Amino acid sequence: MTSHDLESIALMLVAEGKGILAADETVPTLTRRFDTLGIQSTEQSRRTYREMLFTSPGAAEFISGVIMYDETIRQKSSGGASLVEALTLQGILPGIKVDTGAKPLAGSPDETVTEGLDGLRDRLSQYRTMGACFAKWRAVIHLADSRPSPACVSANAHALARYASLCQEQELVPIVEPEVLMDGPHTIDRCEEATSVVLHAVFHALFEQRVALEGILLKPNMVIAGKECARQASVEEVATATLRCLRRHVPAAVPGIVFLSGGQNARLATAHLNAINRLPGPKPWKVSFSYGRALQDPALEAWHGRDENLAAGQKALYRRARSNGAASVGKYTDEMEEASPNADDPPHRRDWRDD
Ligand code: 13P
Repeated sequence: MTSHDLESIALMLVAEGKGILAADETVPTLTRRFDTLGIQSTEQSRRTYREMLFTSPGAAEFISGVIMYDETIRQKSSGGASLVEALTLQGILPGIKVDTGAKPLAGSPDETVTEGLDGLRDRLSQYRTMGACFAKWRAVIHLADSRPSPACVSANAHALARYASLCQEQELVPIVEPEVLMDGPHTIDRCEEATSVVLHAVFHALFEQRVALEGILLKPNMVIAGKECARQASVEEVATATLRCLRRHVPAAVPGIVFLSGGQNARLATAHLNAINRLPGPKPWKVSFSYGRALQDPALEAWHGRDENLAAGQKALYRRARSNGAASVGKYTDEMEEASPNADDPPHRRDWRDD
């Protein structure tokens, strides 16, 4: 496969009006979410949940790819076909999370470095054989007065670049995800400063490791005030700061930027994406979504682990996918949403953080 083929796949993932469903929670993370709703977490219940999401009628109109976890890519659907086949039948590209998680960074115990490079070449080759077209690796950056440290930024950037280079060698499009967390009282300005430092380091490392930028997607956080910051920025402020930061640090060769939602309220994540796409001025990349919680939370709540709610869960996913598909082309409106008493986050979602 040439870098041209990788670019074609990357462009399919950010096709007009489409984005990515991140459904790659580890077993412990998904179990924690199930626990808050009283759903038993078994291999079977996790399979049922993922199959519900992946076969949601109509969602493929807005979902170009799905990121899976190792357990899921090996599972079969209730009809006996693999879940990978269930996706490809609908024209959805299968993807796979390949990092093994954020671990404490030696010498800086309040920070993490994402691991998973050992044996990665062989694992990527296996996933490719199983039908994966793209991969994901998430670096986690904690923000505080003295964080992130230069050591944390460079260790994570280096690992992301090594992963991306191996992916391209193994003919998979790497999604490069450096996430500056929303946790904490920091201002939007501080988030912009830290996101700039991180993106600069990541693209420097990608250059050093000879990664073809045409064959990657970037999955960044939006530039946003910390959850505990007294002054939350407006939708317009978030859009303006995010686009300014990306224009300064993301080369034009990158085909697409697909945001993570990071714990934002689901509708706000949609409104932010829409506002970014409506801003005037050049955007050399497609700008779309690769949301986990902001796509899944309403579906998980509607399903609640009960077979009789499978259709309701699928409808909830469809609605969020449709709204985000519209936001990826700047055409989202409030009228696309149901008037719902649950527009605000229910309290249990506060614990639905990623590993
Ligand atoms: P969230 O949208 O819930 O942040 O998840 C996206 C993701 O893939 C995190 O790695």
